[in-house]
Amino acid sequence: MPLTLDNLTVERGGRAVVAGVGLEVPAGRVTALLGPNGAGKSSLVLAVGGVLRPRSGSVSLDGAELAGRRPERIRAAGVAIVPEGRRLLPDLTVEENLRVATYSLGKKAALAGRARALELFPGLGERRGVPARSLSGGEQQMVVLAQALVSGPKFIVIDELSLGLAPVVVNRLIPVIRAMTDSGIGVLLIEQFATVALGLAAGAYVMEGGVIRYSGTAAELKANPELLRSAYLLRGSEASSAASVAETATEAVAGTEAGAAE
Ligand SMILES: Nc1ncnc2c1ncn2[C@@H]1O[C@H](COP(=O)(O)OP(=O)(O)OP(=O)(O)O)[C@@H](O)[C@H]1O
Ligand SMILES: [Mg+2]
Repeated sequence: MPLTLDNLTVERGGRAVVAGVGLEVPAGRVTALLGPNGAGKSSLVLAVGGVLRPRSGSVSLDGAELAGRRPERIRAAGVAIVPEGRRLLPDLTVEENLRVATYSLGKKAALAGRARALELFPGLGERRGVPARSLSGGEQQMVVLAQALVSGPKFIVIDELSLGLAPVVVNRLIPVIRAMTDSGIGVLLIEQFATVALGLAAGAYVMEGGVIRYSGTAAELKANPELLRSAYLLRGSEASSAASVAETATEAVAGTEAGAAE
């Protein structure tokens, strides 16, 4: 069963920054959500996670309505979010940061959750006693992802996977995303580097001005540079650095045989 958003509207500062958005995130696949600065992507993520209360519309999973529920309820229903720019507590160790993420779970579920999350990140187990401040940027992002996985979600919504990371580090995160979908998790991936997202994704959406401008396969979108450019030129100076990262990332995606499913 997919995670389904229908006619979702989110207001901020008295304005609909997400205006009647519908999208479908299938299980076991990556779905890309692209769009320029201010498109409303992060607002959508926060509304899905219950941090912002949607004005109207639906977020549903397995017939249950999640829109307007509290974050803990949404997480318990199987939907985890990784908000944009999430940080670890720098003085706490990897293990302690994971404990922070499991504090609301029962003791058994917390233990199992931490073990399961660490399984997806092979190197992280050995680093569990290391303070977060001593980790590399890539390792920190892995712990952030692991925090979202401790509750055993069916769906995970990741806002800006590569934010602040060097291209080589982004490449190391790609197999991790693959492992998530291989284990059946549906991933909604918001990513500034379109090529990274589209290399991993099966389905894709482009959002602009609070509405969906494109919905279809990632492959079709890749073949439509005009649409991509119109959505990304607004990033100005970022466009040139995006191009170089996109090149290396494409190679990395190809290396993990992560072609989009048809
Ligand atoms: N706290 C807030 N109060 C009022 N308006 C806000 C608030 N936060 C964001 N906005 C506005 O909501 C709109 C959507 O912002 P949002 O952060 O969701 O976009 P985004 O697609 O995630 O952009 P980016 O690519 O820069 O992360 C923007 O016009 C933004 O200025
Ligand atoms: Mg954002």
